[in-house]
Amino acid sequence: MIGIMNRLQNKNILITGASSGIGKECAFRCYEEGAKVHLLGRNERSLKEIYAQLNDNNNSISILDLQDFERYQNIIESIVTKHGKIDGFIHSAGYQIVLPISAMNYQMYLDIFSVNTISAFEFIRLLSKKNYSNLSGMSIVLIASIMSVLADTALTAYCASKSALVGGAKALALELANKGIRINCISPGTLADTAMTDNLKKQISEEEFHRIEQEYPMGLGSTKDISSLCLFLLSDESKWITGQNIIVDGGLSVR
Ligand SMILES: NC(=O)c1ccc[n+]([C@@H]2O[C@H](COP(=O)([O-])OP(=O)(O)OC[C@H]3O[C@@H](n4cnc5c(N)ncnc54)[C@H](OP(=O)(O)O)[C@@H]3O)[C@@H](O)[C@H]2O)c1
Repeated sequence: MIGIMNRLQNKNILITGASSGIGKECAFRCYEEGAKVHLLGRNERSLKEIYAQLNDNNNSISILDLQDFERYQNIIESIVTKHGKIDGFIHSAGYQIVLPISAMNYQMYLDIFSVNTISAFEFIRLLSKKNYSNLSGMSIVLIASIMSVLADTALTAYCASKSALVGGAKALALELANKGIRINCISPGTLADTAMTDNLKKQISEEEFHRIEQEYPMGLGSTKDISSLCLFLLSDESKWITGQNIIVDGGLSVR
């Protein structure tokens, strides 16, 4: 009998942003659940360290800057050739720009949309081809942000990129439902244990960070809080859930 620790037995899961934070946590937890994990990121050293800890050559790493769109197909092709068709995709790569509108320029919007938003849609376009996706269905989880539904000052580009990700995911969920492909977003609030939060701390004052912390009824979250939902969404237990943006924010948004 398949136990709780084998919810992703033998599934091929592709993960962007696997070199740190939520993506890295998801990589370890998917592996523990029996998946073969295929890790994408720019930071080769970090990916190699994670790969070594997994200690199993059914997994793989690929060094990819998500702005290199023309490389996506070859990377997917080589993973599928070696390991089989893809059952799940986690798009965790993303970054934040904290700047007032007066300091923004158009290139910053193009860059953040490329990584946070368009890369997810491009991966989904390729992964939905019958040569690459498992015929018995595929689950796609896009890590958005609570900033897809709420907002804060100096976050125009980030809020816009995450709202657009959620909007596109809903349309894609409808378009790809008849292929058995499910697409959901997870929108986390601020997590205490990520590089993104460390960077945020560098960009704002201590008082401002304290103000953010105080807004969370259950305190800040952790990458584990997000990976738990991710595993559920990747597994067959969630087989009738698609097109959703699930908020995981310790109660912030219901204040
Ligand atoms: N941390 C939070 O509080 C929080 C809250 C809400 C939403 N989120 C979202 O959660 C996701 C994961 O963030 P995190 O907290 O885990 O932060 P993180 O530790 O900074 O991870 C970000 C990941 O994105 C990858 N990445 C960034 N630019 C890339 C590019 N051009 N090409 C390829 N990979 C790129 C990085 O890979 P390399 O280092 O290898 O380049 C890294 O693995 C993001 O989408 C973020 O917006 C985070």
